[in-house]
Amino acid sequence: MQILNDLAVLRDATKMARNEGRSIALVPTMGALHTGHMALVNAAKARADQVIVSIFVNPKQFGANEDLDTYPRPIDQDVKLLRDASVLAVWMPAPTLIYPKGFATSIHVDGPSAGYCGDVRPGHFDGVALIVAKLFNQVQADFAFFGEKDFQQLAVIRQMAHDLNFNLQIIGVPIVRDSDGLALSSRNIYLSRDERQRALALPHALQRARDAIIAGNAIAAALQYGAAALSAAGFDSVNYFALADAATLAPLSSWDGRPARLLAAAKMGKTRLIDNLPLD
Ligand code: PAF
Repeated sequence: MQILNDLAVLRDATKMARNEGRSIALVPTMGALHTGHMALVNAAKARADQVIVSIFVNPKQFGANEDLDTYPRPIDQDVKLLRDASVLAVWMPAPTLIYPKGFATSIHVDGPSAGYCGDVRPGHFDGVALIVAKLFNQVQADFAFFGEKDFQQLAVIRQMAHDLNFNLQIIGVPIVRDSDGLALSSRNIYLSRDERQRALALPHALQRARDAIIAGNAIAAALQYGAAALSAAGFDSVNYFALADAATLAPLSSWDGRPARLLAAAKMGKTRLIDNLPLD
C-alpha cells in the first residue's frame, strides 16, 4: 500500500492502473476509521480492481463553533486498517495542497443541501461539495463510495456530480450499526457512557416512526411522536425529525409508497447525532 501526498505521484499511480485496464474506486474519508468506513472499503473492493482511500479533515466543512481542532486523527491506526485491507493507496494531501494560498473557488449545490443539516450547519455542504469535487478531479476514479448515514451529504454529492458531469458512479453503502442499533460515527467517541446509552433513543424512535407510517398512521403524528421520544430520552435539542423523498429530499407530508427516508438529527450534550431509515 502506498501512502501518497504528492499529486503528481497520485496521478502516475492512477494512470498506470487505468492503462492496465484496472478500474479504480475512491473512498473519501476524514480518517478516524471505524467499521462503517471499512464497509465502504469492502464494497469498493468488491466493485473495482483498485481502491484508493483519501484521508483529509476538511476545514471548509466545519462551522466556526464546531470540532475541527478536536476531530479525532488516529492516523497510525487508520493506516494499519487500510494496509490490512490491502487498498492500493491512501491519499493524504496536505491542507496547502488542497487550499493553496489565494484559493478562491466555492461550490454551492441548491436543492438537496436545503433544510435539515443545511439549516443547522450553514455552509457545511458547500465545503463538502468543494472537497469532494477536488478529490474526484485528483483521483479520477470510476466509482466513489459514501455511507448512507450522511444521507443528505450523499444526495448533495450526487447532485453536484450530475450537474458538473463527473464521469464516475456514486455508490451509497447502507449504515453500519453497533449491535445495539446505534449508527457508527467517528463522533460517537465524544459520548459519555450514559449519553451513549440514551442515544439509542435515536434509532429506536426512527424505527417506531417507520413502523407507524407503514401501518398507515398520520405522518405528522409519527414525526411529532419521534421528536418527543428523543426529548424524553434526554436529547438536549432535536434539530429535525422528518420524512423526505429519497432522491430530492423534498419533505413529505404523505407517503404513497415511493422511496422515502426518515431523517433525524439531535444533540446529546456536545455531540450532534444524525441517523436515518429507508421507507420503501
Ligand atoms: O463523510 C465524510 O467523511 C466527509 O464529509 C467527506 C465526504 C470525506 C468529505 O470531507
